Amino acid sequence: MVIRGMWVCKVRLVKHSGLTPILCLLTCVCFLAVFFIDYLEEWATCFGMSGISGSHVGLPPQSMPPTRPEEFLHMPSRLVCQRAKPYMITLVTSAPGNQKARQAVRDTWGGEVQVRGHRVMTLFMLGQTSDPVLTKELAEEAQEHGDLVQGRFLDTYANLTLKTLSMLAWARRFCPEAHFVAKVDDDVMFNPNALLHYIDLKWGAPESELAELYIGRVHMKVVPDRDPVSKHFLSEDAFGGTTFPDYCSGTAYVLSRPALLKLSLVASAAPLPKPLPPEDVFVGLCAHTAGIVPTHCPYFSGGPSVPFAPCCYQGMVSVHHIKPEEMLHYWTDMQYAAPCSWLRVRTSLGICKLRALLRHFLWSGL
Ligand SMILES: *[C@@H]1O[C@H](CO)[C@@H](O)[C@H](O)[C@H]1NC(C)=O
Repeated sequence: MVIRGMWVCKVRLVKHSGLTPILCLLTCVCFLAVFFIDYLEEWATCFGMSGISGSHVGLPPQSMPPTRPEEFLHMPSRLVCQRAKPYMITLVTSAPGNQKARQAVRDTWGGEVQVRGHRVMTLFMLGQTSDPVLTKELAEEAQEHGDLVQGRFLDTYANLTLKTLSMLAWARRFCPEAHFVAKVDDDVMFNPNALLHYIDLKWGAPESELAELYIGRVHMKVVPDRDPVSKHFLSEDAFGGTTFPDYCSGTAYVLSRPALLKLSLVASAAPLPKPLPPEDVFVGLCAHTAGIVPTHCPYFSGGPSVPFAPCCYQGMVSVHHIKPEEMLHYWTDMQYAAPCSWLRVRTSLGICKLRALLRHFLWSGL
């Protein structure tokens, strides 16, 4: 179709002069741009990203305090990873009251245990609540499903960074088998299949030595919020720079085991700043200090929600802002949809990404 379009353009270009060939050429260019929108995005992001210029730390591994099981109120058996030997573990950050969201994840993508020939495992990461009824319900949920990791900190927005630290600590100690750790919010439609496909394509043979990978939707040159009343306020003491180092959006990102270890090392080396920076910024700062450059993957959706289309969602690794009912509904649709050809995935991906982008600009323009 594309080739034919270009051929028609060429013929017209020769035959006519004036506006027609230019319009025709523009159409072809636009068509190709939509068709290869992910490649364009990857290229443009690479171009805009700042490299690592900070100092790298070389701390001995002994300086990291070991994770103690007492740090967790509930967790699956400590042998859970030894038994299952997952290639990738997905830790879904959830709030105590989000039972519906957790159930939707279990009933959809979180229920998969084998993807592209690899074992995968999904667990939920949460903190404590001051509500005694909810506390009891969580204990029952942990008992029933055995997939809750509950850290000993109050589960509040301001404590999200503690949740991430708790998550990293748990994965470090209790899941050394996992090559990759994915952090995903509970309102994200995650697609381990698309992720492992992307990783295989980019970093090849699974047996080769694992690189320090930090993959997601990269936010570039974000300015710290200095408004004291804002939810995202960050004081000069907590972070003195004018822009944050590039970091992956917190809705979903992936760390390889070596990256996880190095990052934890940095995080434990210095006292935590107060107030704590947002979770994703904090991880980005640690990665920067550790000399780990984030990799932008165009299949992670950031802010704008991506309109549903089975072939588009098949190509995306993560889509944000999905309600539990939508997750179940989309998942069923995807299971029953006819398999998508390469061409269908490309077109569908291009169109839904373009729609998300337009929506985003309209939305932020208001
Ligand atoms: C964060 O968790 C700690 C430990 O449970 C608690 O003392 C503190 O009040 C929490 N902070 C916020 C802002 O909720």
